[in-house]
Formats: sequence, structure tokens, C-alpha cells
Amino acid sequence: MAHWAPAREKLMRIAIPKESYPGERRVAASPESVKKLKGLGFSVVVESGAGETAHYPDRLYVAAGAEIESDPKALYANAQILLKVRPPCERDGVGHEIDLLKPGSTLLSFIYPARSPELLQRLNANKIQCLAMDMVPRISRAQKLDALSSMANIAGYRAVILAANHFGSFFCGQMTAAGKVAPAKVLVIGAGVAGLAALGAAKGLGAIVRSFDTRPAVRDQVKSMGAEFLEVTIEEDGEGTGGYAKEMSPAFIAAEMELFRQQAKEVDIVITTALIPNKAAPKLWLKDMVGLMKPGSVVVDLAAESGGNCEYTRADEVVVEHGVTILGPTDLPSQLATTASQLYAQNLVHMLSDIGGAKAEKDGILGLNLEDEVVRGALVTQNGEVTWPPPVRPAPPAPAVKPAAATAAPAKSGHGGHGAAPAPAGPASKAGLTWGAIGAVLLMFGAAQMGHDAGPVHFMQQLTVFALSCFVGFQVIWSVAPALHTPLMAVTNAISGVIVVGGMLHLHGKAHGPALILALLAVLFATVNIGGGFLVTQRMLKMFRK
Ligand code: NAI
Repeated sequence: MAHWAPAREKLMRIAIPKESYPGERRVAASPESVKKLKGLGFSVVVESGAGETAHYPDRLYVAAGAEIESDPKALYANAQILLKVRPPCERDGVGHEIDLLKPGSTLLSFIYPARSPELLQRLNANKIQCLAMDMVPRISRAQKLDALSSMANIAGYRAVILAANHFGSFFCGQMTAAGKVAPAKVLVIGAGVAGLAALGAAKGLGAIVRSFDTRPAVRDQVKSMGAEFLEVTIEEDGEGTGGYAKEMSPAFIAAEMELFRQQAKEVDIVITTALIPNKAAPKLWLKDMVGLMKPGSVVVDLAAESGGNCEYTRADEVVVEHGVTILGPTDLPSQLATTASQLYAQNLVHMLSDIGGAKAEKDGILGLNLEDEVVRGALVTQNGEVTWPPPVRPAPPAPAVKPAAATAAPAKSGHGGHGAAPAPAGPASKAGLTWGAIGAVLLMFGAAQMGHDAGPVHFMQQLTVFALSCFVGFQVIWSVAPALHTPLMAVTNAISGVIVVGGMLHLHGKAHGPALILALLAVLFATVNIGGGFLVTQRMLKMFRK
């Protein structure tokens, strides 16, 4: 195979090596991402066979505009930017990947700096500028380059498939001629990215799904996916910084353990995803809980790489205790290599695009804007300095006080769950508003009944209907679960249509004075509402189109 000839190239060069970590099937570029990288002004070179295990043969990369390099040493030596999945490591017969790069080149890869200080030192010694894709801050603006979320989403889905593979029954209940089969009960511990993906997959297979998380903020997300959100009787918010969790008090953990012991007797599948950044995985599924489970049950522990959430977990091994199978896979995204590579490659494209593409080059080096929170958060080494952890930014102003979470509520009956029923959102403020609205309506009713001094009875009746509609509308909109927002929008559009017709009827004929103004306003606002509703619906539909 012809060697890549960089001397003729003027464009900034990106190299994609074959991943050498044992068993790794992902690759840092897809043919699609190659096209986009070229669009950003880079030239792209892919190591021969790099995409084979992700089902991207060399010819697809060539068709997308990449060159193929068969000599790994030349690939690294000529790269100005190296895109990788796994942290750089020793390659048999080639050398350590960091040592093969030339000083001043830029590496974008998963790095896990907290657990790899030697790697940081090595990057530093070779003056490599390194952006750790696992350090991208979890802020809304950075969602499109959040590689950890891309991988966690895949891992959650895959964990359910793995559990189904080891479970001796259906996930969905079945009524057959031979008899009834009960649906599987699945408990997902931790409803972050991986947890929510697992919930969705288990629900899709027809299981009864429950979840527990220390952050009450995820309650609505869990419920909108049709799962039950379990709660303990202790009120404590597990929300830490950057969308991650914080460590909970011993009293909270004790209450959580009690809840899990109850659940252990009922559930067939447990998927654990609990994570606290830069800490060993919290031990949440203890040996005695495994002992309480039915034989044939399955535990899939996603936190195996950082020590495991289950006491029996051994990374990448299948452990059977008390008839329960405990799995601790650490390569779930790699098991879905094609999609994992495609999404990760997209995250890299977004990162390079946000940096400014090839235009960000300064003297052959990728120039970085350190004022950019995302770039600064991901940068771990630069100019021979370790730049991780990034300086702490002043916290944004505290949001308005949230309504208190549910406290000790009685256990739900449902399908045997032990979760406490969540209190309705915002009890204090909402109750105040409700009573205020009821008071106002009653006063108006009173005024309408009493009298002539307050104006024509007909007008007061209209006003009463109007006030009641405001009250009912407020209650309906505030109580609708997020999953029902789309149908709600359709209903409000239909109501707006009725308002337009009503307004036009009033405008017809001898309308004058306040009635004319009100009718005009009604037609105007209802039309804006209908138009806006259509625009928002269009945008939402676009998101689902391929
Ligand atoms: P995340 O931070 O989005 O979610 C973790 C959730 O755990 C948070 O919602 C947090 O509130 C919750 N949590 C923390 N302490 C808890 C406790 N005591 N009880 C209940 N919930 C608790 O993290 P993400 O991205 O969803 O990842 C989850 C796990 O999956 C991580 O450990 C990650 O390393 C792992 N992972 C594993 C892969 C594999 O192949 N095995 C691949 C990708 C991710």
C-alpha cells in the first residue's frame, strides 16, 4: 500500500490509528465524520484496517476522501492531530503511542486523568497538547460533544440486552395456551444517561421497570418513560456540580439500603449505574441483597471499571452467587462498535468544529481558546504543563428555590413496589395560587349574584366563566407530565381555533367599545398561539426525521 506523502500537503493533518487496546472494536472516525473533517479544512489519514472491527472497511474511508496509511510509525510521526478512542498505550512492535507523536501535536481521546497521572506526565514530557473527551463539562452547550453521554447511552441499552441474554424468561408478560408468564421486574439504580437508556430499553422489551436515584430532579424523566420512581423517606438532594451526583449522608444511604433490601425480594433484573465523579463506585447492591434475590435473577453492574456498585462484581467476569448471575462488563460501547464509533466520531467533529476547524492552526499547532469553558475543561496538558484539573469557575447565581421533595409517604401498592408516592410538585406556592384563584372566583360569583351595582349580570357571568377557565387551564397545564406536552399543544391549538371563531363572531356586526378591543385581542393572541404551535411542532418533527 502506498505511503502517505505529507510533504505535498498544506492542510492540517488528522490521523486515525487502529485501536490497540485488547478487545477494543471502536474507531475514532467514521466515513461520515471523515467527510465532515474535510469540510472543516483538515486532511485525514486512516491507518489501514482501523475501522474493520466497526464494519468500516478502508474503501469507505477512501470514498469519503481519506488517505490510507499502512505504516503505523509514519501515521503517528506525520500527524498534527491524532484522534483516538482509548487512552494512548504501548503498541506491540511499534512503541508507545505518545512517544510516536511529534512535540506540538494535539491528541483528542478518552484519557481519564484522575486515574492516569503517569499518562499525563508522559504527554507532558513529549509536549503533546491533549484534550480529554471524558472531561468535557456537562453543560447544555456541550451536549453535542459529550462523548461520555454518547457511550453511556449505548452502555445502558446494551446492559439490558445482556441481562435478557442471561435471564431465563421473557421480559414482557405473556398469556399462552399453556399458561400465564409474568413480566420481568427490572430495577435500574442511578437514572443518569446510562440509567435512562436502560429504562427505555427494558420498558421497550415489556418489563415492569423501577428506578432509584439520589437526584430528585430525574423523577419526571423516569416517570415520563413509564417507569416507577422509587423514593426513600429521607429528604436530601443528591445534585452535585455539573449535572453529576454528590456523595450522600450515611443516614440517606442506610434508608436506600433498606429500600433495596425490599426490592431485592421482588425484582428479577438489577442494572446498576450509580456514579459519583472522581470517586470509587458506591457499593449499593450488597452481598445480602444478592442472597435475597430469586435464583435465576441477573445483576448487570455498569460501574465495574471503577470498582462496581455490587459487592460481588468482578470486572469482565461472570460471577454466579446464590443462583444469581452478576455481570461486570467494561466494554459495552465496544460491543456496539459501529454505532459507538459513529457517535464518538461525531462528538470529535463537533469539538474540532467548535475550536474553529483547520482555521485554528497557528504555526502548525491547533490553537485553543482557553476562555472557552468547554475547551478549558477538556484540556489536560499543554506546552509541557499539566492543565488538569481546570480552575474552578465562580458558581452561577443560585436558581429560585425548588419545591421540597416528597417526604415520608406511604408505600405504593401498584405492582408491589415499595416506593413512596411522590408529592405533587410545588405544594406551597401552588396551593396558595389555587386558593387565591378559588377565592377570586367566589368573590366574583358573589358580586354577580348581589348585583346591580357591580355591573350587568350578563357581563359578570362572562367574567366568571373567564376566571374559571384561567383557573382550570392553570391546573391542567401545570399538572401535565412532560411526556404529554405534545398532545397538550395540540389541544391548546384546537382551543385557540375555537377562540378565533368566537372572536370573529363578536367582530361581526355592531361590535364597539371594549367588546371590539377584546375580540380583536382574542383573535390576535389565538392566531399567534396557533402559528407558534405549528412552528414548534415542525421543529419537533424535524428532529425525528432522518
Ligand atoms: P451519570 O452521572 O449520568 O449517572 C449516574 C447516576 O447515578 C446519577 O444520576 C446519580 O445521581 C446516580 N447516583 C449516584 N449515587 C447514587 C446512589 N447512591 N444511589 C442511586 N443513584 C446514585 O453517569 P452515566 O454517564 O450514566 O454512567 C453511569 C455508569 O456507567 C458510570 O459508572 C460509567 O462509568 C458507566 N459506564 C460503563 C460502561 C461500560 O461499558 N461498562 C460504558 C459507559 C459508562
